[in-house]
Amino acid sequence: MVEQELLYEGKAKRIYSTDNPEIVRVKYKNSATAFNGEKKAEIAGKGRLNNEITSLLFSKLMDSGIDTHFVEKTSELEQLVKRVTIVPLEVVVRNIVAGSLSKRMGLDEGVVLAKPIVEFYYKRDDLGDPIVNEDHIASLELAKPEELQTIKEIALRVNNILVDHFNECNVRLVDFKLEFGKLNDGSILLADEISPDTCRLWDKETNAKFDKDVFRRDLGNLTDGYEEILKRLGGLSCSK
Ligand code: C5P
Repeated sequence: MVEQELLYEGKAKRIYSTDNPEIVRVKYKNSATAFNGEKKAEIAGKGRLNNEITSLLFSKLMDSGIDTHFVEKTSELEQLVKRVTIVPLEVVVRNIVAGSLSKRMGLDEGVVLAKPIVEFYYKRDDLGDPIVNEDHIASLELAKPEELQTIKEIALRVNNILVDHFNECNVRLVDFKLEFGKLNDGSILLADEISPDTCRLWDKETNAKFDKDVFRRDLGNLTDGYEEILKRLGGLSCSK
């Protein structure tokens, strides 16, 4: 058995090598951060919930024909994924105005957008992840134009699938962030996580928040909302 090496430590996960050079092990942490790491806390249960919710959502997306890095969930806190080189972009898809879009454009939170908006942010903690457009991405060689086109198409397909899936669970998918990775052969895969840390999820009837805004804005107990999302995703009515 080869000793497993810590390859990377992020704010919410650690990545370890495995005996297979094409597969890495992701271990979810209980750390919560917001505002580019300025606000921090340890929240018992968060790692388990995000691992479980991400595994369910990636399985759903793969069943719907999306190529992802996900291989299998192996324990409460861990999953195996394909080893990829992460494209240094955060891809945000928005259906309803909230968060930084509301601030930047002076729009009221909760307004339903006429069509989904896709935004790109350069993954650079030291710069506070600045928003970038197709020209910045091409000039800085963050992704090739054809790769960006693929990324945008996949992001919108993921949005369609997840909007419907959450809707069946009486949840509104307000917005979310995706990351993409590249395999050695150049193919693009959906990577990272999709969880209440990376999505805004509101109750369809009451607009109650089941996501990380509860932590960002001190609105109550964070994991109650995450538990509710897990329950609804695993519930009989939305188990397809
Ligand atoms: O803050 P903002 O409104 O731009 O966030 C849009 C969406 O992207 C939210 O669902 C947020 O949780 C997610 N996001 C993220 N990681 C970041 C920035 C945003 O998961 N670094």
